[in-house]
Amino acid sequence: MDSKRRQLITGISLAGAGVLISACRANSGPAGSATNENTKNEGPKAGEEEALEVTATEDLMREHGILRRALLVYQESTVKLRQDAASVPPDALEKVANLFRVFGEDYHERKLEEVFIFPTVKKAPGVAAGYVDVLSAQHARGREITDYVLSITKADRIASNSVEPLAKALEAFVRMYEHHAAVEDTVIFPAWKSATGQAELDELGEKFEEIEHEQFGDDGYEMALKRMEEIESSLGLSNLDMFTAPAPPK
Ligand SMILES: [Fe+2]
Ligand SMILES: [Fe+2]
Repeated sequence: MDSKRRQLITGISLAGAGVLISACRANSGPAGSATNENTKNEGPKAGEEEALEVTATEDLMREHGILRRALLVYQESTVKLRQDAASVPPDALEKVANLFRVFGEDYHERKLEEVFIFPTVKKAPGVAAGYVDVLSAQHARGREITDYVLSITKADRIASNSVEPLAKALEAFVRMYEHHAAVEDTVIFPAWKSATGQAELDELGEKFEEIEHEQFGDDGYEMALKRMEEIESSLGLSNLDMFTAPAPPK
């Protein structure tokens, strides 16, 4: 498969977010344009009371929401890989890994957490500071695993001797990142918020928005959400009700 075709299928270039943006725009009909109108940046439309503001911590937490949706695809894929590896299209996993790379690792982790959140929390009093080194090490391990997933899924089919190692790597990644994001949501972001005054938080909220626009040239969250929804629907995972637990034994 040539690299142009691969980029089209993947939707996100390894080199950056450019292809994510063009893929989303290319796929955006009138409905896509309407979604992009509801960005956090824009003022109220006629008849609306006021624009809804997204705070810096809400921004970080909803980014975790996108990453958790990616983790769900990984988790479902490990089950399918073990049942019937041929039923897992490598392209779909590659798209998820690329989204995790561009939106999770290169933007959320590198541009926000490692620059603004971790250094402040590390100096703040309390238990949160003690988590920062492990969280940083987990970012690094996550990137290694993403490299591995990308290397395995670039082929048109997953080699039989790679099926179990890939399933294990995905499982370990999901386990690590679920807990990682939960600790950030419940310990790290609240500690960062306490250590930062309200005025500075407001400024940083705007700064994060600027960084997002610099990185993606548009609303990165909206684009990543749309991309994630496309991936879920291509894999038959977009119906939330399919995850409703069965009733317990009576
Ligand atoms: Fe993190
Ligand atoms: Fe995070």
